[in-house]
Amino acid sequence: MFGTIGILTGGGDAPGLNAVIRAVVKTATCEYGIRVIGIEDAFEGLLGPSQTRLLSPGDVRGLLPRGGTVLGTRNRGRFVERDAHGKSVKRESVYEEAIANMKVLGIDALVVLGGEGTLAIASEFDKRGIPVCGVPKTIDNDLACTELTFGFVTALDIATEALDRLHTTAESHDRIMILEVMGRNAGWIALHSGLAGGADVILIPEIPFSTGAVAEKIHSRDAAGSTFSIIVVAEGAVEIGHDLMYLNKGDAMTAPRLGGIGQHLQREIEANTGRETRCVVLGHVQRGGRPNAFDRMLATSFGACAVRALAEGKQGVMVALQAGDIVTVPLTEAIANLKTVPPNGQLVRTARDTGISFGSPEEASFHRKS
Ligand code: F6P
Repeated sequence: MFGTIGILTGGGDAPGLNAVIRAVVKTATCEYGIRVIGIEDAFEGLLGPSQTRLLSPGDVRGLLPRGGTVLGTRNRGRFVERDAHGKSVKRESVYEEAIANMKVLGIDALVVLGGEGTLAIASEFDKRGIPVCGVPKTIDNDLACTELTFGFVTALDIATEALDRLHTTAESHDRIMILEVMGRNAGWIALHSGLAGGADVILIPEIPFSTGAVAEKIHSRDAAGSTFSIIVVAEGAVEIGHDLMYLNKGDAMTAPRLGGIGQHLQREIEANTGRETRCVVLGHVQRGGRPNAFDRMLATSFGACAVRALAEGKQGVMVALQAGDIVTVPLTEAIANLKTVPPNGQLVRTARDTGISFGSPEEASFHRKS
């Protein structure tokens, strides 16, 4: 049995991080008599004069509904750098320094809250003999082996509310309104919110779109007497024949930043339809603030199960939601591939059945025939 667990939060923040920290501290301390040390700013807190603090149940009081992470986070850092060709580089000396610091601090095992990038670093610690349990975090919901990541459902609520609000103003002004949501590699937020918020067009990374097909959908709505249209586009959506849109490509220490597809679409749709079109970029509003009730529950379950897994001797695992149950899966499987939207899956089909366009050219030709 361990004496001390270290906990850290990596990657972009997500609603529910603090709820996991709270559950880990309460479970470890009260149920197993294990100490918890909070590591600040993700794995970076293990380097140099390490930045850590002991967490007792008193320190996590009031954290359940609080957004962000009290431990701070980093999107990228010294554990994975990128070389001039964009390839990731892992420097052994950095891992050696972190592991040496862990020994000094008495940290025997790690609970790591993060998405695929952070969990890939966690798996490097596992390979070097440190017991690790990952907790799946990302509002994008793109981690494999788990049906849901915590933070996603709250982000979905926020995006859906934004669509509801855009509906009434779009209808009042006879406008085309575009909502750009997060979703770097996977369109889960766009797809789910588009269904829940009654979008007319959903554009996701998994289904390349053409502006012509989107314009055609708008024309067909006009012809049917609907004088406004709502489009939800994931930041990672790709127009056929174009590259991904970046705000900047990052460097060795900072991640590339996607963005601009919504505004590009606005210009293209105005040019193609002559209709007044506006774009709203929802951005980090999707990530900040209080987790909803579901995410608090999921985060708490994940946190408690992560401690239980380590206490039972499991290593190199990630807690996951499968068929309503919290299970553990091998970390290597969880990070092997991203979970993207199946283009022919049930949700996409449901969207198409209910008249939503994904802007694919085949849909445009289908509309022309009908
Ligand atoms: O991974 C979650 C995510 O929300 C992505 O959808 C988005 O591209 C990224 O984080 C943005 O991160 P940052 O805070 O660095 O802009």
